[in-house]
Amino acid sequence: LRVGLLFGGRSREHEVSVVSAAAIAQAFADPLNGDRYEVVPIYIQKDGRWRCTETVSAPAPSLDNQSLWSFPAVAETIDVWFPILHGPNGEDGTIQGLLEMMQRPYVGSGVAASAIGMDKILMKTFFGAVGLPQVQYVAISRSELWSDPCRYRQVCDRIETELGYPCFVKPANLGSSVGISKAKNRQQLTTALETAAELDRRIIVEAGVVARELECAVLGNDAPQASVVGEITYSSEFYDYETKYTDGRADLKIPADIPATVSNTIQDMALKAFTALDGAGLARFDFFYLPDNGQILINEVNTLPGFTALSMYPQLWAASGLSFPELVHRLVQLALE
Ligand code: ADP
Ligand code: DAL
Ligand code: MG
Repeated sequence: LRVGLLFGGRSREHEVSVVSAAAIAQAFADPLNGDRYEVVPIYIQKDGRWRCTETVSAPAPSLDNQSLWSFPAVAETIDVWFPILHGPNGEDGTIQGLLEMMQRPYVGSGVAASAIGMDKILMKTFFGAVGLPQVQYVAISRSELWSDPCRYRQVCDRIETELGYPCFVKPANLGSSVGISKAKNRQQLTTALETAAELDRRIIVEAGVVARELECAVLGNDAPQASVVGEITYSSEFYDYETKYTDGRADLKIPADIPATVSNTIQDMALKAFTALDGAGLARFDFFYLPDNGQILINEVNTLPGFTALSMYPQLWAASGLSFPELVHRLVQLALE
């Protein structure tokens, strides 16, 4: 089978996608998969144009003026697509819609689950509707902030009353902690709102919790399975971009050292969320566990989670008995179901 590995993308998580894709290509080259699959790497430049590449790495940007809508001819020959794009224009239903129109199978969730999972405001509205506990939050649009300078003060007043400090300010549609700030006072909150508003039309502000960060991987279509639960620890203020992607800044503990009741609850919540969302193939669900009162809150879903050999998603499955090469094979099989 010819697998079209789509990577890069018009997203702030472009570089992460290149690293994820390289690890996936290596797993397809494993003797277990070598005879089954031929990987065709297709790179999406930061400007959105598609290019065929020899290897899975980011080539220098093409200077030709090929149009946005001309795809490499090899795209016609792809049997199954594996989009490993993180963030907007890849994890948000847009590529999934294009692949639907091409009438080719693809790895991962469809349009609706991808779109809801990418947008933190839609995602939290959805989790609330299906009864999953989560942090308190306030949704803001930047037009509200930018309409008049006094609006910043009114928005800050509202956040202080409803959420207090510390709070987390996030662009609604991003990942890898890009554009996220922790605010401990009004000055930091104002700066955080400005930062997020530069990156997205919509902003979410959440009450900060002091919690352990636990993650659970889900794999499957109509009968999804949950992996063991893993924990992330770090010494920085929060799990920001540098901590995520600089070697040695964060530790992954798999399985997490938590009571069985906690890990069972997390697995149940992950499966409930995946099914309610109509997820397909894969997703990683992230949780906050508050040791003080035992509360477990869902933080977010990533429908195309980080996929380097050191990333949580493949490692959770390795610890659950499925090697990286077996995992990519399984994902393609699920796409073909
Ligand atoms: P992303 O989609 O970019 O990964 P997250 O919502 O997962 O964004 O936030 C990134 C990190 O910021 C989390 O892993 C956590 O360390 C911290 N964080 C986010 N929201 C909160 C919160 N409400 N309370 C405490 N920490 C938070
Ligand atoms: N958005 C990144 C890739 C993750 O959550 O793994
Ligand atoms: Mg996250």
